[in-house]
Amino acid sequence: MKNLLVTGGAGFIGTNFVYYWLGKYSEDHIVVLDALTYAGNKDNLTEAEKNPKFEFVHGNILDQPLVEALLENHNIDTIVHFAAESHVDRSIHGPDEFINTNIVGTHTLLKAAKKIWLDAGKESHRFHHISTDEVYGTLGSNDPAFTESTPYAPNSPYAASKASSDHLVRAYHETYGLNTTISNCSNNYGPFQFPEKLIPLVIINILFNKSLPIYGDGRQIRDWLYVDDHNRGVDLILEKGVSGQTYNIGGTNEWANIDIVHLICDLLLEQFSNDKSLAERFSASPAAQATDPKILITHVKDRLGHDRRYAINAQKIKNDLGFLPDESFETGIRKTLTWFLNHQPWWNNLLSDSYKKWIATNYSEPI
Ligand code: NAD
Ligand code: TYD
Repeated sequence: MKNLLVTGGAGFIGTNFVYYWLGKYSEDHIVVLDALTYAGNKDNLTEAEKNPKFEFVHGNILDQPLVEALLENHNIDTIVHFAAESHVDRSIHGPDEFINTNIVGTHTLLKAAKKIWLDAGKESHRFHHISTDEVYGTLGSNDPAFTESTPYAPNSPYAASKASSDHLVRAYHETYGLNTTISNCSNNYGPFQFPEKLIPLVIINILFNKSLPIYGDGRQIRDWLYVDDHNRGVDLILEKGVSGQTYNIGGTNEWANIDIVHLICDLLLEQFSNDKSLAERFSASPAAQATDPKILITHVKDRLGHDRRYAINAQKIKNDLGFLPDESFETGIRKTLTWFLNHQPWWNNLLSDSYKKWIATNYSEPI
């Protein structure tokens, strides 16, 4: 039985992790610590809060006394650290929060774990740090995929802040003997993803007849993984991963952005033709008139420092821990579309405040 502290558990991946974990390990206790930034949504956890083994704490990972009290009072033996500022575009416009949360915040958690765990001889307790493939930088089209020994070369303030936090986690293992693991995962998609990220943004913009902004030529490549597969990878690392080790998690599923946008257009057109009620609910959408949503595609100015390609070599987690994704992109993207179509109140709430402001102030002009 485990007592977990899940930081950032009201965000996209953290929320999915909480439901995955409560569903699989009914004996375990989970405390979520989340500052409820624009990306965190307490309502995500409404179902979890019905479970007596779950507790939500509204607080900041930068608050060391709070973190120490949680570790002590809840007998936490496992930290799963998702909390972060996670959007590359925001890191370009304002890096400061990324430095505070991703670097100083991670260091605060490490200090608390060292004090409450190591100084009390609880050496087997695990600190698992959730990181990203973006720390490895960018690949050319024929380069081999990132392995765990690919040198770090982060290009955005977001990636640099995550790289920094990875180094701190490593240092606390090497220097103090903290039981740590790190996972560097590729792009996630699925339920609860905040609609500033490519896939949910495109889905919602198609429904409201808004342009689909493609940065530059749209031939940038990402390796996409369904969020539950990421969380199964984290589960395997917590169960069998070796202290001090890093594991890459990926779907071996490389897609150019423009091809994903085309796919979402095709699948939504198909959904509208199979379910006539969608045309009533989303009457502004081109799909409501059986028009191909690709007419909404608008190439805009490229992101500064935009990484061209990410690709994960997931051999280590496959060979050492037996990881394979359950979801194909075909099944995962259909599940995701269905979830967004069935959860309009969830994303409507977000559209009414920060998302609308973000759209109004930050979209690039068409080129
Ligand atoms: P998200 O932005 O959806 O959620 C982040 C959560 O962290 C939010 O609930 C937010 O309120 C919380 N948070 C932010 N600052 C905090 C602070 N100072 N104290 C406490 N809570 C705070 O992010 P996500 O997409 O779910 O990503 C989760 C983690 O996974 C991040 O560490 C990210 O770097 C990593 N990751 C994400 C992806 C991806 O594709 N989304 C891929 C690989 C790795
Ligand atoms: P994003 O979902 O922001 O994830 P990340 O930057 O972490 O990979 O973006 C995925 C890709 O889609 C990335 O290459 C940027 C691109 N993109 C667009 O072309 N248009 C958009 O409106 C957004 C949000 C992203």
